[in-house]
Amino acid sequence: MERSVALATCRELPLLDPDGAGVLAAFERLGVTAVPLIWDDPAAPFSDFDLTVIRTCWDYVPRRAAFLEWASRLPRVINPVAMLEWSTDKRYLAELGAAGFPIPTSWFFAPGEEVSVPEGRCVVKPTVGAGSRGARRFEEGEAALAIAHARALQKEGATALIQPYLDGVDTSGESALLFFGGAFSHSITKGPMLEIGGVGRALDATGLAFAEQITPHEATTEERALAEQLIGWLPEIPTYARVDLLPSPDGPVVVELELVEPSLFFQMTSGAEERFAQAVVDCLT
Ligand SMILES: Nc1ncnc2c1ncn2[C@@H]1O[C@H](COP(=O)(O)OP(=O)(O)O)[C@@H](O)[C@H]1O
Ligand SMILES: [Mg+2]
Repeated sequence: MERSVALATCRELPLLDPDGAGVLAAFERLGVTAVPLIWDDPAAPFSDFDLTVIRTCWDYVPRRAAFLEWASRLPRVINPVAMLEWSTDKRYLAELGAAGFPIPTSWFFAPGEEVSVPEGRCVVKPTVGAGSRGARRFEEGEAALAIAHARALQKEGATALIQPYLDGVDTSGESALLFFGGAFSHSITKGPMLEIGGVGRALDATGLAFAEQITPHEATTEERALAEQLIGWLPEIPTYARVDLLPSPDGPVVVELELVEPSLFFQMTSGAEERFAQAVVDCLT
């Protein structure tokens, strides 16, 4: 019997992101039927597929609980539900820090908690977020604005995450390292996402993420070692993972460990669709 994989997406991206066509072709070459399906479409036949892979479900943010509940009802989902739950709330950064991984200094303020901000530039963002939505940068002297943004997030029910602004991102960008089946595949650089003043930045065509500047990047030995350690530290090997690193004066720090709906940037390299599809197909056996 032919094996089949559902690739979960959102209404704004019925055919996945620009990497989608290449991914579908890679599955076809492996003899596996792969079909994009919209996660919150009640008519989408997820249960007809051997496996669902979470892909471009970028609209889950305001309804994370419903998204996780949907995922938990699937016959089989990649990455596993426990990973989806863990990776959709940046409070996991505190765990990474406690385990000895370098992270940006991070303060968390749940709804109702009194907010305070550090000296100097800072970033205020929701712990449940994607596509840089809700993330804003504040300059020295803008503490009142930063606190107001954190309170606005809290009012929406979000936990506010506040970090010093790591300004190395303005010159060196953010590195993203992609892993499939636990093995390093490729890496890219993303330009800085947060502008002074912030509001009025351009959303991409989906309206779900801010436009990004992506370039190919060869991960440094230090970045690679850190990302590999982090993947090895997880309780099980994720089928796909993206480790996002920001430059700091003390070396790279982990800003995000994306195990849910990361862009995979296949267009910045060659052969990575194959590695991704193979890692998924390996889960079918
Ligand atoms: N501490 C920080 N210093 C500098 N830039 C940051 C910091 N935190 C986030 N950013 C910028 O904001 C963007 C979005 O933040 P991120 O934590 O990656 O959340 P998201 O899940 O929305 O991608 C990052 O890609 C980066 O450009
Ligand atoms: Mg990010």
